[in-house]
This record gives sequence, C-alpha cells and structure tokens, in this order.
Amino acid sequence: MQTNPALAERKQRIDSNMSNIKHKIVIMSGKGGVGKTTVSVNLAYGLSLRGYKVGILDADLHGPNVPLMFGKEGVKLSKIAEPLEITQNLHISSLSFFIPDNSPVVWKGPQKITAIMEMLEGIKWGEIDFLIVDLPPGTGDETLGITQNIGTDSKAIIVTTPQKVSLLDSTRAINFARLINLNLLGIIENMSGFICPDCQKEMNIFKKGGVKKLAQEKKIDFLGSIPLDGNIVESSDSGLPFISNDSVASRRMNDVINKVIENLENKNESK
Ligand SMILES: Nc1ncnc2c1ncn2[C@@H]1O[C@H](COP(=O)(O)OP(=O)(O)OP(=O)(O)O)[C@@H](O)[C@H]1O
Ligand SMILES: [Mg+2]
Repeated sequence: MQTNPALAERKQRIDSNMSNIKHKIVIMSGKGGVGKTTVSVNLAYGLSLRGYKVGILDADLHGPNVPLMFGKEGVKLSKIAEPLEITQNLHISSLSFFIPDNSPVVWKGPQKITAIMEMLEGIKWGEIDFLIVDLPPGTGDETLGITQNIGTDSKAIIVTTPQKVSLLDSTRAINFARLINLNLLGIIENMSGFICPDCQKEMNIFKKGGVKKLAQEKKIDFLGSIPLDGNIVESSDSGLPFISNDSVASRRMNDVINKVIENLENKNESK
C-alpha cells in the first residue's frame, strides 16, 4: 500500500507533540448526553487540584461544551498553539475558540479528521501529566480521528447511565475500543440514583447494578458511580466544576479520580 508522505510527516509531528504527555485519556460513550463532558471537566479539575499538570482537548466538533463548563463560552483565541489557562495546572483547548459562536459546523468526515489531526499537532501542551480528551458520543469521525492518532499508549474511559438503552450502546463502544486495540481504563456509571434536594438522601430511581454487571461481563474495571444531582447542572451552567462542592456527588467523583490514578499506577488497565 502506498503511503502519503505529507500524512506520514504530519503523523510524526503529532507523535512528537504527544510524546510530551504522560497519560492520555479519552472519554467516550455509546450514547449522547450521559455526562462525558461533565466527567472530563471534573476529572481534569480534580487531577489538577492534586498537583498534576493537566490539559483538556475538547474534540466534540459539533457540540464543543468544555469552555462553557469553565465559564469561558464566547472566548476567542487567535493561535491554536496556546491553550487557554484555567489555572496554573489546567489548560483547555476547543474548536469553539476559533469559530464564530453558534455556527453550525458543516464538515464532511475527512475534514473532521483533518481538523482533529491539526489540533493534535498544533496545540502545544508542553510537558503535562494528563491530557483528557472529551469526545462526542458514538464511534464517528472525531472518535476515529483521535483514537487513531493520539498514540497507542492512550487509554479510554467509558461513561454510561444505568438505563438499558445506554448500556446497550456502551457495549458497542466497548466492542469498538477492543476492535481498535484501545486500552480500556474502566467504566463510570453517571446519573446513578438521585440525591433528594431537601433531605440529601440518595434514592434509586433507575434500576441499579447493570453497569457493574456489564463491567464484569466485559472484564473492565468499574470506576464508580455518580448520582443525579441538581447542583451538578447548576455548577456546569455557571462554569464551576461540581467537584469543588461539598456533596455526595463530589465525594463520588473524587473516589473515581483516585481509582483512575490507582489503575494507572498499577498499570491495571484491561484490554
Ligand atoms: N450526575 C449528574 N446529575 C445531574 N446532572 C448531570 C449529571 N451529569 C451530567 N449532568 C448534566 O447533564 C447534561 C449533559 O451532560 P454532558 O454535557 O456532560 O453530557 P455529554 O455526554 O457530554 O453530552 P454530549 O453527548 O451531548 O456531548 C449537562 O447539563 C450536565 O450538567
Ligand atoms: Mg459532551
């Protein structure tokens, strides 16, 4: 098979840029709206609070929401190379910094892959401990563009909700990850149970246990569950990661982060 020299050179430049990053974690899901961006932002923020240097790459080209969750919607940047500083330890980059607000991105598949490659090549994260990549749902062009180019040492976390439809789509995402030899770090159950705003007690409004069972069946680590909590929506909308709150959800998210660190340290990821 003939290789395209320009593409091969670009791939080399991406590899060289990515080699400065210790851990690359992509956040995936089979279904939309299950909390990938919320998890990406809070995982990254929580890691940065633990002293790690972290970047978030918003790879959702049609619905780039990472800036909004840090109160940075509407921000425009001129140079792709420089990610936006949130704190000294945390920087983010998103296509939304470079396109007019509310513009619908109408791109064909190959153009999306090119845009993803340009971001992987062009954003200079420097020497960081973690790059968290927030993906759109499913296994489309952005997911392919990232997973095929970010490096074979990258890991994936799957986010799901407890409902059967989401579990079914998660099975597809897991099978996809296996197909392309992506290391799975684990699965997170989001919107699991409900925290009553009055009494702060946890109630199970959906059937529980399905995600743990799926994790066992597929031999993937269960990283923990985060309850449905109205404060999470408020925090996201006001640009503050919910992990800064004192709440059950924030404690659970911290447990998830500790498990992620532990898994990486033990190199315990399942294939
Ligand atoms: N545990 C939770 N409790 C309450 N609200 C939540 C929880 N997790 C996420 N949300 C809210 O649900 C909405 C969707 O979350 P988010 O944008 O993170 O999902 P997503 O998987 O990234 O969606 P998309 O597939 O569109 O990218 C947001 O308003 C977010 O604040
Ligand atoms: Mg999202």
